[in-house]
Amino acid sequence: MQEITLEIIIRLVFGIRDAGRIGRLRALLPRLIEAGGSMSVAMLPPRLREPMARLPFSPYVRFLRVRAAVDAILFEEIARRRKEPEGTDVLSRLLATGLGDQEVRDELITLLIAGHETTATGLAWAFERLLRLPDVLRRLPDDEPYLDAVIKEVLRVRPVVYEAPRVLDAPLRLGGYEIPAGWYAGPSIPLVHHDAAVFPSPEEFRPERFLGGRQSLDGRQSRAWMPFGGGRRFCVGAQLALLEMRVIIREVLRRLELTAPDPAPEARRLANVTFAPARLTRVIARAHYPARTP
Ligand code: HEM
Repeated sequence: MQEITLEIIIRLVFGIRDAGRIGRLRALLPRLIEAGGSMSVAMLPPRLREPMARLPFSPYVRFLRVRAAVDAILFEEIARRRKEPEGTDVLSRLLATGLGDQEVRDELITLLIAGHETTATGLAWAFERLLRLPDVLRRLPDDEPYLDAVIKEVLRVRPVVYEAPRVLDAPLRLGGYEIPAGWYAGPSIPLVHHDAAVFPSPEEFRPERFLGGRQSLDGRQSRAWMPFGGGRRFCVGAQLALLEMRVIIREVLRRLELTAPDPAPEARRLANVTFAPARLTRVIARAHYPARTP
């Protein structure tokens, strides 16, 4: 799943024509996520960065090396593309805004990283759930509205990102508590999604909740369904991610018959800033015979 979603975001960002040349990014980006996601790097206080950068073989040094290799490709691409006529890809649009090289690089790296790992994990959960829900699986992939509702229900029961924190610029009164300015406050997305007052029988997998489109959800439910966060920092890739999930699930189910090697549900495992299936969704896949055509 990660290979597919990475390929999609690379083509969208750089354009299909240039996607081949920046091939080295395909191997480097997963390594950057791994190196940068290690707790000893992600939680490293700024004052320790310099001493750690001098320790050979430390995880921080490994991270700096991969980041430098990725940056070299990105800056080279930015320089080359500034000389070329404008295309319709995301990089062309970014260059047209007048941002400087460093700013364009920052936008690129954000889109490339935020734009594929989360979607791949969402897809992994979709298959993990579907293989354990034969009645749901049977109605797929050709019933489009149902597929869309299934994806939304997957993201409700197994949200990929577990919180959307904000730093408070003023004290916040929440329930019986007063949280001071400067503190982090954020909803625990899995808990919000399991609030029985908003989603009745929250433990049950019921795509029907989302079948009637927006109209079928009351205001509280639309706000409480928050796999993509909310408010001003709502995920910019939400619609793209939902589209990718619909297409990929449909195409995989048309081509392959999937079964779970172990009927027990996969547990959640913390992976960087996401919750992923503990065994990365294990499946046995066989080609449909005869092939199912749309
Ligand atoms: C199933 C897939 C995805 C999930 C679960 C997801 C989830 C999230 C969440 C929870 C946030 C934080 C929102 C908040 O703080 O309120 C976020 C932000 C963001 N996402 Fe996604 N995302 C997904 C796919 C994507 C894709 C495909 C892209 C890029 C094309 C993307 C780009 C971003 C960016 C750039 C932000 C930061 C937005 C900002 O701070 O203004 N995401 N995403």
